[in-house]
Amino acid sequence: MQINGQEYRSVWFENSRVKMIDQNKLPFAFEIREYSSYIEVAAAIREMIVRGAPAIGASGAYGLALAALSAPQDKFRAYLRSARDELISTRPTAVDLSIGVNYVYENTLKFIPDLDHARQVALLAANEFANRSAAECLELGIIGASLIQDGYRILTHCNAGALATVDHGTALAAIRQAHKQGKNIFVYVDETRPRFQGARLTAFELEQEGIPHAIITDAASGFYFWKNEIDMVITGSDRICLNGDIANKIGTYEKAVMARAHKVPFYVAAPVSTFDFGCEKGEDIMIEIRDEKELKFCGEIPVANPNSIALNPAFDITPAAYITGIITPKGIFEPAEASQKVQA
Ligand code: MRU
Repeated sequence: MQINGQEYRSVWFENSRVKMIDQNKLPFAFEIREYSSYIEVAAAIREMIVRGAPAIGASGAYGLALAALSAPQDKFRAYLRSARDELISTRPTAVDLSIGVNYVYENTLKFIPDLDHARQVALLAANEFANRSAAECLELGIIGASLIQDGYRILTHCNAGALATVDHGTALAAIRQAHKQGKNIFVYVDETRPRFQGARLTAFELEQEGIPHAIITDAASGFYFWKNEIDMVITGSDRICLNGDIANKIGTYEKAVMARAHKVPFYVAAPVSTFDFGCEKGEDIMIEIRDEKELKFCGEIPVANPNSIALNPAFDITPAAYITGIITPKGIFEPAEASQKVQA
């Protein structure tokens, strides 16, 4: 992605460290964090310095590579297993995280007892995972752009951009490509309470690329649907089930229902690492419940009645029936057939 005219990924490995753009600071400050231990990477994922399903998948993969590089000779296997468990436990909903971490874990274990080789393989596997993720997002963006017609007004939710992936994005990858093709498009950006991934991160990415957009409150999309000013909805996903149900940022389900009520197509874009081939249906997905402080405070400022409790599910489930199609690097598929098609 281009940030201030320079090319970046959201997360990468350089000089024996995992580096990532601090997404909690954007758009007000652009800061790069550097980590030399998997424990630090786990904390960065938990604190959402890096966030977005494919981006935490790659971060977890790099975190495990750091663990392999520093694992003691005599306890290599046990150390790696505990690092794997720690990294995967940081956030429960996005399946990309366990897929990225396990990819490095399984490839590394194959080379025990040659530990020098195993350590090298861990880093190679993490880089391979990240590169594949970025390539898939580019590809799905090109495929997804075919759905976007000149003049389209598109609603998106959360940040499904390059920041949320290794590069390019999911929903925003398609939007980026359509803009590059010269299509005249406009993006409605849901602010995405309580952490404002839309208002802060999606708006920032769109501005960097010169894509016309406006931030709206999460509750305002109904107004624009009612005015017939939304032509399509595209979101990302954190986990896609075998039956085509998907988990994504809280509020996604509402947008899908609203789109259906207004006969507007609702698309989900995702790389293969977002498919959970072991998960039958939405009810089987664990939804992350985050601290009520995220709702009751805006930064340090209290914005809610102090003695009330607040409920803060970070994701919701959109049933397959509300999804027009899933945009993947292998094509655009009906939700119920997407898992099978991406494995073919
Ligand atoms: O809590 P977050 O910010 O990690 O949630 C991210 C989302 O819900 C994105 O929409 C999702 O990861 C798909 S975008 C690649």
